Amino acid sequence: MKVIVNRTYEDVSHSASQYIQTQIKHNPHSVLGLATGSTPLGLYKKLVMDYRAGHTDYSKVSTINLDEYVGLSKTHPQSYHTFMRNNLFSHINIIDQHTHIPNGQAMNLGEECARYNRTLELLGPPDILILGIGENGHIGFNEPGTSFNEKTQVVKLKESTRRANARLFSSIHDVPKEAITMGIESILSSTCILLLATGERKNKAIQQLLEGKIHEEFPASALHLHPNVTLIVDESAYNRDASPRQSFNPAIYE
Ligand code: PGA
Repeated sequence: MKVIVNRTYEDVSHSASQYIQTQIKHNPHSVLGLATGSTPLGLYKKLVMDYRAGHTDYSKVSTINLDEYVGLSKTHPQSYHTFMRNNLFSHINIIDQHTHIPNGQAMNLGEECARYNRTLELLGPPDILILGIGENGHIGFNEPGTSFNEKTQVVKLKESTRRANARLFSSIHDVPKEAITMGIESILSSTCILLLATGERKNKAIQQLLEGKIHEEFPASALHLHPNVTLIVDESAYNRDASPRQSFNPAIYE
């Protein structure tokens, strides 16, 4: 795992945007795996600014998102459909049919998972997959204890995740109890993975990740099994004691 330590959230967003823009220039038909949450917001802002400056064309790009809450409609203010539309898709020239997010309101969730797996197969592995990390080490909504050998699946959200996400809902009671998520096997099928982590509340998870122990109780540790993962982290999420070397903005450890 390569580790890039940037000084601020803004710098992390900038670094990640450079990876995406370079990828699309290299291959206009790129497939991007996308995440939601507070962490990638800055990245999406940078991509929109760059698009408005006329630098990147998304007309041939496809995207596939990691997850969606079960039970929320596509237009629900906290659905990941709404998040992606408001923060990225409606601001760039991506074609709606080229964007893919699980349908949290599918009548048959098992069939929806199978459909999503077929979509992934048809698109091919994401050239770059953006990931955030939960305070409990989840990636996508793969909560602690999830098998590393799952493709798209329906998962029960841990109370800790529901509490962490309650800040975006009126109350914790409104936070869905389940989600559909790309499983860890699907995540690891990506060609390149960018894991973004910012802010002090991610410090513990990053420390645990950098300890390097691989186990299912800490889902992000599966990323050590992948040959091309870059962790881009800001100073407050990075635990300086985890590495013998200290240098910032940017430092690269391999
Ligand atoms: P956050 O969520 O970006 O809102 O911190 C990340 C995650 O839970 O995966």
